[in-house]
Amino acid sequence: MAITQAKTIAAQVRADFPILHQEIHGQPLVYLDNAATSQKPIAVLEAIRHYYENDNANVHRGVHTLSSRATDGYEGARDKVAAFVNAASRQEIVYTRNASEAINLVAYAWGSTLRPGDEIVLSVMEHHSNLIPWQLLAQRTGAVLKFVELTETETFNLEQFKSLLSEKTKLVSVVHVSNTLGCINPVQEICAEAHKVGAKVLIDACQSVPHMPIDVQAIDCDWLVASGHKMCAPTGIGFLYGKLDLLRSMPPFLGGGEMIADVFLDHATYADLPHKFEAGTPAIAEAIGLGAAVDYLSAIGMDNIHAYEEELNAHLFRRLREIPEIRVYGPQPQADGSGRAALAAFTAGEVHPHDLSTILDQAGVAIRAGHHCTQPLHRHLKAQSTARASTYFYNTREEIDVFITSLKEAVEFFGDIFG
Ligand SMILES: Cc1ncc(COP(=O)(O)O)c(C=O)c1O
Repeated sequence: MAITQAKTIAAQVRADFPILHQEIHGQPLVYLDNAATSQKPIAVLEAIRHYYENDNANVHRGVHTLSSRATDGYEGARDKVAAFVNAASRQEIVYTRNASEAINLVAYAWGSTLRPGDEIVLSVMEHHSNLIPWQLLAQRTGAVLKFVELTETETFNLEQFKSLLSEKTKLVSVVHVSNTLGCINPVQEICAEAHKVGAKVLIDACQSVPHMPIDVQAIDCDWLVASGHKMCAPTGIGFLYGKLDLLRSMPPFLGGGEMIADVFLDHATYADLPHKFEAGTPAIAEAIGLGAAVDYLSAIGMDNIHAYEEELNAHLFRRLREIPEIRVYGPQPQADGSGRAALAAFTAGEVHPHDLSTILDQAGVAIRAGHHCTQPLHRHLKAQSTARASTYFYNTREEIDVFITSLKEAVEFFGDIFG
């Protein structure tokens, strides 16, 4: 689909999302909290319902028909995810509960190889999920955390990043698209630079996999993580991509059923990938829901979704500039909306973001207020909290206009109070 046709995506898909067709406080819902979680299309809801109504059984363990149907659904979804991110093998996709669990898996299973003085490079814009597991690992092993700072335009400072790399660097773990700044980090270059010093690279792709085509082989990352619930799938399912040899070299994370080959009273051997990392009965319906979400997104086309969101972004930023009190964090987009994600974390002078969010809710507009799990970044920006509007392909320009009108009214209202 060309970009002119991409303009019509929201109109074509809105009927697929029942939740969007409701009123909040007597006003049509305008859902702009997509960076926190996305809404679910009927195709995903029906896949889950179909599974429970027709195929529900435990996977891998049974030869009966329901069990093999459940296994086919669960494993079929893995094939879809592997193709979606262009993994070289389906064995490189490990299901997890969410991105946080995927990062913890790597921190525990691979992280135990680290020694005192080894260095882990992160950035100041990381989500707590890509910070706390490494803090815990550093405490366990004596490894040292180093941080990439921001450029003047509030993007990833690539030059400073390069200066942090040395033979001591064992791991680089960075976000692809910041959930607060909206900047799109140069992950391909980050991987290439890190690999020159022999470091491994983990990419937190929570805010990129749902919004743009992702090719793990082209990026050449060692691991990549994402959460299903931000890409039209249910909560409770996410995935870890890892290069096959690397995953093979890692010891298990959690022990239990499903992850073993042979078990003796005093020891065990482990299942082949990816099952080595999937202990216990997994989130079967959720994985099937993730597979349906991947089908749904692929049918629209990730290129189309990305192009459409850029158009929305151009409109969002054009309209935000009409309100002089608003300070948006992160880089400005290009005139065509490219160059950053279609979300805006902002402050409005002295107005508390929670007050803004509460007033906008009265107008049916759902935005988030707080630190968005990036507290160190907020400290760095000298902002206690921000309000954040974040879009997805089912949002329209008209919804952005409703948001801007309500925001203007709220800013005027508080402006009168603060004088
Ligand atoms: C950039 C980023 N990383 C990690 C996460 C954590 O995702 P989850 O809570 O689904 O594990 C989020 C979720 O907000 C995110 O935006």
